[in-house]
Amino acid sequence: MKYESVHTAKSSQAPAGIDASAWPTDRYERRMLHVSEHPLIHSELTRLRERSCPGPEFRQRVRRIASLMVASVTARLPTQVVPCETPLELTSGVSLQRPIVLAPILRAGIGFLDGFLDLLPDARVAHIGLARNESTLVPEPYYFKAPAGLENSEVIVLDPMLATGGSAIEAIRTLQDAGAHHVSLAVLVASPEGVEAMEAALPHVPVFAAALDRCLNEKGYILPGLGDAGDRLFGT
Ligand code: URA
Repeated sequence: MKYESVHTAKSSQAPAGIDASAWPTDRYERRMLHVSEHPLIHSELTRLRERSCPGPEFRQRVRRIASLMVASVTARLPTQVVPCETPLELTSGVSLQRPIVLAPILRAGIGFLDGFLDLLPDARVAHIGLARNESTLVPEPYYFKAPAGLENSEVIVLDPMLATGGSAIEAIRTLQDAGAHHVSLAVLVASPEGVEAMEAALPHVPVFAAALDRCLNEKGYILPGLGDAGDRLFGT
């Protein structure tokens, strides 16, 4: 395994196997793509990628990475000035302008949810059921339930893997059709193909990833990746 196959947004080289001229570094700056460079996130991710990482440990590490990502995923949320009465005097502070809705894509997104809820306990949750057809790779919707007030919420779509991008795009369009205006996507591992698809379909939706991997294989799995995130989370 070559470690240079895993890249971050500020990497000076194109991911291995990708034509460098088609993948200039500054392109990441133009995209709404934010890839973590945090050492804790990357050391957690390295261990959970390991084939030998058992289910309970895998779940715990996904949860910790999700929590570690919260600060960057929410860093640009707009705030408003509010009064704040301390025990000593009246001052001012800030509150979020809009409430947060977390939208895990079933089923693997559920494994990514708790780490976000740990730090965002007031968030409400929208569930989106999209099953990937393993032969066509096309997402097939089977469930959607969202809290009221999506128009005025910060909606963060959660899915551990941004592979072809099909599920994320379908989920975000479903949320937008239901009224959501302020949507972002948080993933553990993104593929360049998924980022391209997001860029083409939803260029204004920010994508936050713990890591950007090398490519997809012929079955739509991310390389080097971590395998099937849902299977590893839920022991199937
Ligand atoms: N979904 C996964 O769980 N893993 C991949 O590598 C791609 C899609």
